[in-house]
Amino acid sequence: MARVLLGISGSIAAYKSPLIVRLLRQAGFLVTPIVSQSALQFVTPLTLSTVSEESVLTQENFFSGDIPHLQLEREADVLVVAPATANMIAKFSLGLADDVLSTVFLSFTGPKLVVPAMHVQMWQNPIVQEHVASLKRRGVLFLGPESGELACGDVGIGRMVEPDLILLAVQALFFPRLELAGQRFLISLGGTREPLDSMRVLTNRSTGKLGSMLAILAAFFGAEVQVVGTVPVKHPGVAYRHVDTVEEMGLALEAAMPWCSSLYMAAAVSDFTVERTEQKLKRTDGLSLNLKATPDLVSALAAQKGNRTIVGFCLEDRDLLEVARGKLVRKNLDYIIANTSEMVGADRRSFYVLDAGSDDIVSVENVSLLEAAYQILVTTAAS
Ligand code: C5P
Repeated sequence: MARVLLGISGSIAAYKSPLIVRLLRQAGFLVTPIVSQSALQFVTPLTLSTVSEESVLTQENFFSGDIPHLQLEREADVLVVAPATANMIAKFSLGLADDVLSTVFLSFTGPKLVVPAMHVQMWQNPIVQEHVASLKRRGVLFLGPESGELACGDVGIGRMVEPDLILLAVQALFFPRLELAGQRFLISLGGTREPLDSMRVLTNRSTGKLGSMLAILAAFFGAEVQVVGTVPVKHPGVAYRHVDTVEEMGLALEAAMPWCSSLYMAAAVSDFTVERTEQKLKRTDGLSLNLKATPDLVSALAAQKGNRTIVGFCLEDRDLLEVARGKLVRKNLDYIIANTSEMVGADRRSFYVLDAGSDDIVSVENVSLLEAAYQILVTTAAS
């Protein structure tokens, strides 16, 4: 089992730390909490040792054992600091080691993730930004902060990201790192919704889960990410634009296409739209719908491809690979992710990746959504 060192420093967001521990434990990680002196005002060692089922490292017990920071270095796989205060980030950046957490940070050589939490004015202070930039240059990963309501009632950037996103980032730390900085990802996701009348819609069962995971993981590895979708993606590194219909999705993608370096067309775009009635249809209005074919968005976008990478998705139950190869060529894509309808909404995925430049097919079987997104990025973005 993998071991996570969870550093907790003195921000009000520390009240969420036990929940982070719990999520990590549920996901199968061993967790060693390391609490700074000021964090003890927000969360108790008893709470953390109960949820982690481990002893907690504090300033007080730090010097009682056998050089614990060096022992932890050997036992642990990753170090996450959540929440990380401005003070703690400054210490990390300067290489200070004057308390338990900064000492562990300085001596730990594995992957490190910092999840800041502070007031907007502190976060935006150039001193803090310089420390963040210097740590990033040294390979430390950052997650957030996000915008929203702050503890004092002000609104702005500074909130610690939610524990579920921290869990995903910790899991992502275990993948070999991808360098996506400088890349701009445009991702469509979810099922489009064509109105039939003032109430009803024509839609499909797409959940947007895989597209959302792709967006989150691409942002984690440093890409700029824009999503155009029907299912919101809540992540500070992802700009989300909500749409409903094929037409709205087409317009939003067309506007963002010049900006992007890669397009991932994960949305399940309706092949039909309906002649819409303004008022709610009644049974007596007849039982037929007047369907009209929609344009193929990705084919139209491929016309302004340039040197962008375009990845399409294909869902078929029969002759999957043949049909997928046909779509790859016809739609002028670089890659296509082919799967069957059993995969719709599933939490574990199996699929093939077909490459326009090669006859080789990558087969990915029964992996988590996060691993699925990683495999797609490795085969389509990193090569
Ligand atoms: O529906 P089809 O199997 O042709 O979809 C394959 C790919 O084409 C997907 O990436 C999907 O997002 C895209 N598509 C599109 N516009 C449509 C239908 C599908 O861009 N009207």
